Parts: sequence; C-alpha cells; structure tokens
Amino acid sequence: MRLLVTGGAGFIGSEFVRSLLSSPDPVHRGLRITVLDNLTYAGVMANLAPVAGHPGFTFVRGDICDADLVGQVLPGHDAVVHFAAESHVDRSIAGARPFAVTNVLGTQTLLDAAHRHGTGRFVHVSTDEVYGSIETGAWTEESPLAPNSPYAASKAGSDLLALAAHRTHGLDVVVTRCSNNYGRYQFPEKLIPLFVTNLLDGLPVPLYGTGRNVREWLHVSDHCRGIDLALRKGRPGQVYHLGGGRELTNGELTALLLAATGTGWEMVRRVPDRKGHDLRYALDCGKAEAELGYTAEVGLEDGLADTVAWYREHRDWWEPLKSAPVEGR
Ligand SMILES: NC(=O)c1ccc[n+]([C@@H]2O[C@H](COP(=O)([O-])OP(=O)(O)OC[C@H]3O[C@@H](n4cnc5c(N)ncnc54)[C@H](O)[C@@H]3O)[C@@H](O)[C@H]2O)c1
Repeated sequence: MRLLVTGGAGFIGSEFVRSLLSSPDPVHRGLRITVLDNLTYAGVMANLAPVAGHPGFTFVRGDICDADLVGQVLPGHDAVVHFAAESHVDRSIAGARPFAVTNVLGTQTLLDAAHRHGTGRFVHVSTDEVYGSIETGAWTEESPLAPNSPYAASKAGSDLLALAAHRTHGLDVVVTRCSNNYGRYQFPEKLIPLFVTNLLDGLPVPLYGTGRNVREWLHVSDHCRGIDLALRKGRPGQVYHLGGGRELTNGELTALLLAATGTGWEMVRRVPDRKGHDLRYALDCGKAEAELGYTAEVGLEDGLADTVAWYREHRDWWEPLKSAPVEGR
C-alpha cells in the first residue's frame, strides 16, 4: 500500500509515520509513505529523523492548499491520511485566518484531488472539539456539531466537507474524532509539553481560570493505532471516535505533572481563562470498539511517566523550538 500522509512532520502525523514504518505487523509489510508537509512552526523534520533512511519513506515539502502540487503528488497513492492543520486553539483566538485557509480550503483541495485522481480511502483526522462542550455524559458520532473556538469551527467545516465528498461523489471518506493527545514530540506550546518543559527549567506554568475544565487524555500511540484501524477497517462515510477514556480536570493534570517533575504548586500561576473555554469534552467510543476493535491501551500514569522522561532526555529537541521567535500569526 502507498499512503499519502499530510502533516506528517507534526506531532501526531510523525508518530503515525514512525510507528507504521517500524511496525512488525504483516499488514504493514511493503508499506510506502509519502509525507506532504509545508513545515509551519509546528512541522519539525527531526520528528521524522528515525525514518529518514527508510526505503519506503519520501518527504515532499509543500502546502496542502497548493492544488497544482497536490495534483502532482497524489497520483499513485492508494489512500490519504490527512493530519495537516493549524492545531492550536490559542493561536486561532489570536488570528483565525490561517485556520480557515489550511483546515477548510486545504482539506477541500485534497478532497478535490482525491476525487479527480480516483484515490481510494481518505482518512480525515479530526477532533472532539467540533462538538463544543458537554456537562455530563458523552458525545456519540451522531451528536450535533457546535464548535466554539475558530480552531474547532474550522475543523467542523473540514469534517463536513469530507463527509459531503463521500455523499456527493462517493469518495471513500472516513472521519476520526479524538480527544486530547499527549506523548513524545508534541510541540511545546500545548499544555503537557509546555508545563513539563517549563517545570524542568524551573519556570512557572500558566493554569487557565479555575483549572476545573475537564479533558479526556489519549496517548498518541493509541490514537495512531486507532487511525490505522479506521484506515483498514472503517466503513466508507462513517465517523469514529477515538478516545482515551481518562478524564481529568486541568488542575488534576497539573498536580500529576508537578509530581512527575518533583515540583510543587508554588510553580503554578493562575491566568485569566481562555476566551470561550469549553468546560468539558467526552467521547463515547463504543462504535470504534465494536467495528474497529479499538481500545486505548496506554494508562495515563505510564504514558505521562514516559512523556516526562522523554522531555527530560530530549532537550536538544525542544530547546530550539521554545527559543525560536514566535511567528506573528
Ligand atoms: N493534538 C491533539 O491533541 C489533537 C486532538 C484532536 C485532533 N487533532 C488533529 O490531529 C491533526 C494533527 O494534530 P497535531 O497535534 O499533530 O498538529 P501539529 O500542529 O503538531 O502538526 C500539524 C502539521 O501540519 C503541517 N501543516 C500545517 N499547515 C499545513 C499546510 N497548509 N500544508 C501542509 N502541511 C501543513 C505542519 O507543518 C505540521 O507538521 C490535526 O488535524 C488536528 O486537528 C489533534
């Protein structure tokens, strides 16, 4: 099988590429992967260093909004796994335009090309944030979309375009929606790597509002296993939830990170809440369990211990990213 992976130099996409190209599972034998990524601030070539010499690996630097380039790169691939996106909620609040461009127009550019070239499966990787916020219970794949941040709205738009390409043109689309990911190689602007790297440097960490916002945490390796299952076993036109099953308030998560880094609450600075901050996300993953055989396997304590140890040992990876000038967008 030949896969086109967009956004493969980012956090989750690179985990997907590394894990599939090193997989001993016979279903991945002979797999070839082309990564298409334009290396925004979040795209890091070092994330792909472990597979750089793999005979099945090709890297193309380019923008998913560039229809000519996408039209040149896509033919010959059996499937697309689409990760490329602007992904940081706080950046979308500061400036939504790149989110509309990449997440909506970029996705449509890929869908158009996949339709035109008769590409097989198109896995669109999305987020639980498209549903908004839920006080109790959990969303099913049938729950209405009610996104609150510009990031979530742009992802909801791209989900609907992907599903429309299935209904209108019969494109073999599968949409996955996951909860908050964590793990190795996550860009140090997101909560867990920001807190861990600050704490390792003896710097304070900013906790939004009351710290009572609830998130469900998913180890990135479980997420990528779920995406691979959706790629191989998902039904066309279907949405699948890939959750971690472990809910924590941001305050509880902070306590775990303080303990894991041997620091205390004196390192925490309360900061004004994020605008429009969703209180709680929760996914019902029964459909993915029943149809794909998906379950999250990495326990939060083990996953966090591995993640903290990795950041402790890989200053050479994150220090240059934290000291790089912040882009004005
Ligand atoms: N991180 C999470 O917790 C999470 C949760 C739910 C869903 N998701 C979704 O998973 C996907 C991957 O998330 P991530 O955390 O790895 O993101 P990331 O920000 O770490 O990586 C995004 C990658 O996309 C690339 N990219 C951005 N714009 C591009 C463009 N126009 N053309 C080509 N490449 C482009 C970047 O260079 C980068 O390599 C996204 O679609 C995101 O919405 C992430």
